Amino acid sequence: MIVSGATGGVGSIAIDILAGLGHRVVALTGKAGEADYLKSLGAAEVLARANLDLAKIKPLDKATWAGAVDNLGGDVLAWMASTMQIGAPIAAVGLAASMSLNTTVAPFILRGVSLLGVDSVNCEMPVRQRVWARLAGDMRPRHLSAATRTVPFDALPTVFEDFIEARVKGRIVVDMAA
Ligand SMILES: NC(=O)c1ccc[n+]([C@@H]2O[C@H](COP(=O)([O-])OP(=O)(O)OC[C@H]3O[C@@H](n4cnc5c(N)ncnc54)[C@H](OP(=O)(O)O)[C@@H]3O)[C@@H](O)[C@H]2O)c1
Repeated sequence: MIVSGATGGVGSIAIDILAGLGHRVVALTGKAGEADYLKSLGAAEVLARANLDLAKIKPLDKATWAGAVDNLGGDVLAWMASTMQIGAPIAAVGLAASMSLNTTVAPFILRGVSLLGVDSVNCEMPVRQRVWARLAGDMRPRHLSAATRTVPFDALPTVFEDFIEARVKGRIVVDMAA
């Protein structure tokens, strides 16, 4: 399995959950210096985004990934699509890098790859309840404290720049009472 935007909030939790379910997780990140953090969440391997040649994405490349969680969109998602195994799903969660997707139909019609849209905003309550039940059960994250930092409401402006500059690591929780 591969997770992009690995050090972000979604990426960190996805690594934790997938590794906890027994998958071998490769963390794709722009922050190679955070390899120890990503491994502490359960990543078996850390792949630096700088090492991908996104200028030469083939319609189909070596079939590598059994599944993917993509937080970036753009060329990384196109590269993922071209490197999925037969029948493998990609959960398209985010657009941290780009809203665009320039790919071909080859992965979808020649390898049966599925591009699954994730929309947590309009998700219906019965689905939410099933997900919450699993998050409290077999999918329970094991490293929430490592992946979470709490800031008081008044300190919010100090963390915005980290999000914009992609420096953020894990999920930031805002304590409204502090
Ligand atoms: N579909 C939904 O329901 C849903 C729900 C929640 C979030 N989202 C979306 O999912 C994405 C991830 O959310 P998040 O909460 O994890 O965000 P986040 O905490 O800000 O993390 C995003 C991560 O993406 C990477 N990144 C950021 N900017 C980038 C850029 N310009 N180019 C390449 N990589 C970049 C960085 O990770 P690395 O340095 O490790 O690569 C960063 O830590 C966002 O686009 C968010 O809007 C969607």
